Amino acid sequence: MSIYFLYLHFYKEERCRFILKESENILEQSPEKAVLVALVTKRTRTDDPQESLQELELLAETAGAVVLNKVIQKKDRRDSHYYIGKGKLAELAQICQDELADLVIFDDELSPGQVKNLEEYLKIKVLDRTDLILDIFAIHARTKQARLQVELAHLNYNLPRLKRRWTHLERQRGGIGVRGGPGERQIEVDRRQIDHRISSLKKELEEIEKQHRVQRKLRSSKYNISLVGYTNAGKTTLLNALAREELYTADQLFATLDTTTRRVSLNGNLEVLISDTVGFIKKLPHHLIASFHATLEEAIRSDLLIHLVDASHPHFEHHIEAVNKVLTKLNINDKNILLVFNKIDLLEELSAFQSMVDRNYPNSLFISASRGDGLDELKGKLMDFATASKIKLALRIPFSEGKIISFLYDNGEVESEEYLSDHILFKVQLPRELFYMVEDYVV
Ligand code: GTP
Repeated sequence: MSIYFLYLHFYKEERCRFILKESENILEQSPEKAVLVALVTKRTRTDDPQESLQELELLAETAGAVVLNKVIQKKDRRDSHYYIGKGKLAELAQICQDELADLVIFDDELSPGQVKNLEEYLKIKVLDRTDLILDIFAIHARTKQARLQVELAHLNYNLPRLKRRWTHLERQRGGIGVRGGPGERQIEVDRRQIDHRISSLKKELEEIEKQHRVQRKLRSSKYNISLVGYTNAGKTTLLNALAREELYTADQLFATLDTTTRRVSLNGNLEVLISDTVGFIKKLPHHLIASFHATLEEAIRSDLLIHLVDASHPHFEHHIEAVNKVLTKLNINDKNILLVFNKIDLLEELSAFQSMVDRNYPNSLFISASRGDGLDELKGKLMDFATASKIKLALRIPFSEGKIISFLYDNGEVESEEYLSDHILFKVQLPRELFYMVEDYVV
C-alpha cells in the first residue's frame, strides 16, 4: 500500500477513532508545555498583543497544553527566515531550554519555510495559530459533516507544508498540531491523489449540503433564526434556555462545531427555528471559513441573526468587531441582526454598562442565558421580528375555495394570479404566522 493510501486510510477509518481517543486522553496525558510568541509589526501595532496572546493561551489550553511563558517582539516587519529577529530567537531558544518546553506556538500564520527554519533552530515542535485552531476543530468535530470540513481545511492548509514538516519531526510522537494531520511518518505526497481527495471531500460535502437544503426547504415556512457570536459567548447555553434542552456546553473555545437547530415556541401559536453555529474568533483561518461554509450556510439563509456577546469579557468590543468581519466575509452583514449582551450576571455595574452600550450599540438587549434574566424580553423581540416577516408563496387555489381567495386578498400581497382550467395560480406574500391557513395549497 502506498504511503498516500495509508494516509487516506488514516483519515477515513482511523482518524475518527484516533481523534476521539485523543480528546478522551487529553486530560489524562501529561500536558505539552508551550511557549507563546507574538510579533508586533508596523502593520499590526494597533492590535493589543497581550489580548491576542491571552486568547492564544486559551486556545492552547483548549488543545490540552499548559503555557509556560509568553514572548513578545516589536519589530518593523517580520523576518522572512525566522519570523522574529535573530536576537529574540536566541532568547526564545534559551527560555525553551530552561523551561523544558515541548513546543512553541506563534500567534500568526507562518510560512512553511519559517516553520522549518524555526524547528531546526529551536529543536522542538513549532505551530502557528492556524495549526492550533485546526487541531481544536479536529478534536471537536463530531458529525460526519464537521469531520469532512475539518479534513478539507486541514488538507488545504497543511499539504503544501507536509513534506517539509514531517521529515524533521519524525522523532516526535503526535500531540498538539498533529491530530488533524497525517501522522508523524514522512509522507511522499502524491499531489494528484491529494487533489483527488480534496475534490471528493468537496463532493461529499456538497451531497450533505443538498440534503440540508431539502430539510431547510421543508422548514422554510418557519421563521429561521441563527445564533452567531464569538466563541464562548454562551450561544449553546442560550439555545438550551430557549428550547429548554440540554446541549453540550463547556467553558472552552469551539465546543460547538455542528449546527444544531431547535424549535422554540415564542407563545402558544408562534414557533420559530433557532440554530446554533460555530463560534467565531479573531484571525479565523480563511481555510476554515471556506470549509465551514456549509455549516455557516444556516446563518447565511436565516431570516434573523442573534449576535450574542459575552458582556463580561474585557475586550467584548473587539469580539463584536471580529464577528462582524466574518459576517462581512460571508456577505451576511446586511441581514436583520439583533445584538444581545449575555452574562450580565457577571457584571458589577450593570446600569453603567447598559448606558455605555445604549450609546454605542442602540437597540441591544441584555440577558443572562444561564440565570434566565431578560429571556422574556428577548422572546418578545423575536416575536416582533417573526410576525413582521412575510413569506413568498406560490399557491394553487381551486375556484370553489372562495373563502381562501378572499383571505389572500385581505391578508396578503398578491403579486400575480393566473387563471387555469379549474384553479387560480397565485404568487403571494403572506405574514408568516398565517401560513397554516394556506399550507394545503402550496405548489
Ligand atoms: P462555542 O461553542 O465555543 O462557540 O461557545 P458558546 O458560545 O456556545 O458558549 P457556551 O454556551 O458553550 O458557554 C460558554 C461558557 O459560558 C459556559 O461555561 C457557560 O456555562 C457560560 N455561560 C453561558 N451563559 C452564561 C451566563 O449568562 N452567565 C454566566 N455566568 N455564564 C454563562
